[in-house]
Amino acid sequence: MTPHIGASKGDIAETVLMPGDPLRAKWAAETFLDTPRLVNEVRGMLGYTGTYQGHPVTIHGSGMGMASLSIYANELIRDYGAKTLIRIGSCGAMQAHVKIRDVIIAMSATSLNTPSMGLFREVNFAPTADFSLLRTAVNAAEAMGTAPHVGGIYSSDVFYDERPDLTEQMTRHGILAVEMEAAELYTVAARFGARALAVLTVSDHLQTGEALPSSERQSSFGDMVQIALKAAFPS
Ligand code: HPA
Repeated sequence: MTPHIGASKGDIAETVLMPGDPLRAKWAAETFLDTPRLVNEVRGMLGYTGTYQGHPVTIHGSGMGMASLSIYANELIRDYGAKTLIRIGSCGAMQAHVKIRDVIIAMSATSLNTPSMGLFREVNFAPTADFSLLRTAVNAAEAMGTAPHVGGIYSSDVFYDERPDLTEQMTRHGILAVEMEAAELYTVAARFGARALAVLTVSDHLQTGEALPSSERQSSFGDMVQIALKAAFPS
C-alpha cells in the first residue's frame, strides 16, 4: 500500500495504461482485459488488473493534470515496479491539418511547468516518449487502419487557458495538440528508468471550436486502449 494506492505489491502489473478518468479505467478493464479485478479505489481513483492475451496489465486512472498524474506515476513505478506506462486520453488540436477523432502519438511534450520543474532548476528538460513504444504504437495504429499524427504536444496546467499568446506560439512551432498530463509522465518515467508513451484522441479543436460528440467518446477511447495494448505487446 502507498498513500494513494491500496493495492498489495503483486496486484499491479509491469504494464500500466493510464486514462485520466477512473471510470474509463473501469470500462477499459472490463471491455479489453480478461479476469479484471479492482486493485485500487482510494479516493475513487479506480485501478484494475487483468490480462491481455495472457499478459498482466493494470489500467489505472491518473486524474486530471500533472500534479495528480505525478502522484500515481511515482507510486506505480517506485513502489509497485511498473515499467511501461501508457497514457490514453483526449487532447485539443492546435493545427488545422489535425482533425477531430484523429489519433496523436506524442513524441515529446512541451510545458510551461511540471511538478518536476523544481528539481531541474535552470535546466529545460525535454520530456520524450520511449522510442520502442512509440514505434510499436505507430505500427499498431496503422495496422488498425488509423494514420496517427506523431509529433510534439503541449502539456498545460490549465484547461481554461487565459494565455492565447502561448497557444499561438505552440501552434507556430508545430505542436499538434494540448492536453494536461504527458510531460510529467515522460519525466517521471525517465527519472526511474521506465518506458512511457501518450496516445491521444482529438476531442476538440482549438481553432475551429469543434468537439467530439459525447456519443463517440467511448468508441474513440476504445481505439486508443487497443493501440496501447498492441504497442505494449507487439506480436
Ligand atoms: N486543453 C487541455 N486539455 C485538453 C483539451 C484542451 O483544450 N482538450 C482535451 N484535453
